Parts: sequence; structure tokens; C-alpha cells
Amino acid sequence: MSGKITFTMIKPDAVEANNIGPILSMINKAGFKIQAMKYMQLSKEQAGKFYEVHKDRPFYGELTQYMSNGPIVAAVLSKDDAVADYRKLIGATDPSKAEEGTIRKTFATSIAANAVHGSDSDENAQIEANFFFSQLERL
Ligand code: CMP
Repeated sequence: MSGKITFTMIKPDAVEANNIGPILSMINKAGFKIQAMKYMQLSKEQAGKFYEVHKDRPFYGELTQYMSNGPIVAAVLSKDDAVADYRKLIGATDPSKAEEGTIRKTFATSIAANAVHGSDSDENAQIEANFFFSQLERL
């Protein structure tokens, strides 16, 4: 079995559309527990640091601009096989390719405004959770 945590953000498009509640409901119904959570707005620099791995991609400027454009919800989620199971729940990065019933198919409007982020590996889940939360803020 793989790791027990993953990291997610509910992105500015989903917050703006009042979809925090419905998305958290899908997360809970899929069996994830919330280990830590905060509502905040990233600066462009903070978004740039979080997405540094994409800094050479053509969409990096758009991504960091977009992610700092409004409030987000950041959370650490726990469940067995958290990373893989959460990626199944959120669906493909491009919502037009996401399966029916996934969070992105349900709420996302484009590849940039794709409603949620989910960690892509156990290692990145730890790095991303530590980027947003101190030990004191995690249960
Ligand atoms: P996320 O899972 O948060 O990880 C990186 C993000 O970059 C991704 O979701 C998308 O929102 C964004 N992204 C990936 N590819 C593109 C693209 N071609 N154009 C704009 N944004 C993209």
C-alpha cells in the first residue's frame, strides 16, 4: 500500500463559483479525512514557488497569475493510497478529458481553471503539505 496523505487546493475558479462545499462533500464521500485546512490567497511569488517544477513550461506565467488571482482552500487529506485515489477522484488535468463523476468533470471549466490540484506522488504530497502547513497545524 502507498502513502496515507495527499495535498489538495481548491483553486480560485471553484472558490469563486461557490463550489468549496460541494467539492469537500465529494472528498469526504470518497473516504478522505481532512488533516489540515486553510483558506488563503497566494501571492504570485508563492504560487511561483509552489509550481516551481513547471517554471520552464509555456503556461507557467498564466498558471502563477491565475493561482494568485483569488482565494484558495489548501488541505491535507488522509486515506490509504491517498495520492492515487485522489487523482482518480479529481480526474484528468484537462477537464474535457476527465471522466464523468470526477471533481474536474463536474466543476472545472478549462485546463488552467481546473477546480482542484492534487499531488502526483507521495514525495510531492509531503513537500506540498509542508509548503502550506506547519506540524502544529496538522492532526
Ligand atoms: P495542477 O494539477 O494544479 O498542476 C499544474 C497545473 O498547471 C495544472 O493543474 C493545470 O491547471 C496547469 N496546466 C497544465 N497544463 C496547462 C496548459 N497547457 N495550459 C495552462 N495551464 C496548464
